[in-house]
Amino acid sequence: MKQKVFLIAPSILSADFSRLEEEVRSVEKAGADLLHVDVMDGHFVPNITIGPLVVSCLRKKTELPLDVHLMIDNPLFFLDSFIKSGSTMITVHIETCTVAVMREIRKKLHDNNVKMGISLNPGTPLSKLKDVLALADLILVMTVNPGFGGQAFMPEVVPKIGQLRKEYSGIIEVDGGITDVSAPIVLEQGADILVAGAYVFHAIDRLKAIESLRKCRK
Ligand code: DX5
Ligand code: ZN
Repeated sequence: MKQKVFLIAPSILSADFSRLEEEVRSVEKAGADLLHVDVMDGHFVPNITIGPLVVSCLRKKTELPLDVHLMIDNPLFFLDSFIKSGSTMITVHIETCTVAVMREIRKKLHDNNVKMGISLNPGTPLSKLKDVLALADLILVMTVNPGFGGQAFMPEVVPKIGQLRKEYSGIIEVDGGITDVSAPIVLEQGADILVAGAYVFHAIDRLKAIESLRKCRK
């Protein structure tokens, strides 16, 4: 059976931020397809990480597409600065926006050749995406409650991925607790992009960690 192609996006949330350039180069060398950048505001999630300044610095240091995950309230307010900073794709949370705002975000992103992602928390049902599914280039399914790296994968979210696959022909990205154990489970459900933070950045050998994910198949 032909193996389905999927992409691996290490999340820099688990990198050593004092050596960020080296860290990014190391996963680039190890075979990462994208770089996942977790932006947290201390409101939508109980943690604060980075802003557009760091994204624009990263843009100068790597050729990898920058997959920017905005875990922030009022993402429209910050959208222009994340577009200008060189994001390749920007994902906003369904819990933070009305359908009208989602439409506005999509227009701004597409006018600037940036892909639009929409994410949903583990506790948010798929029905919440009903009116916005057609707007999104990708849907990011959270398999942990957002806020921190290194949390345990939530198996109760798995059926949601499979159900989404039936309803949606765009890209499905899965984020949270991805390891060589959980990766085959989400691939089986139809995931196209795997985000992996701690599993890659905390590995003794990052090349081996990425290869071990690459070997997973549905
Ligand atoms: C969680 C973030 C994730 C996280 C993934 O709020 O959105 O991207 O960094 O990290 P791991 O793979 O360690 O769960
Ligand atoms: Zn993320």
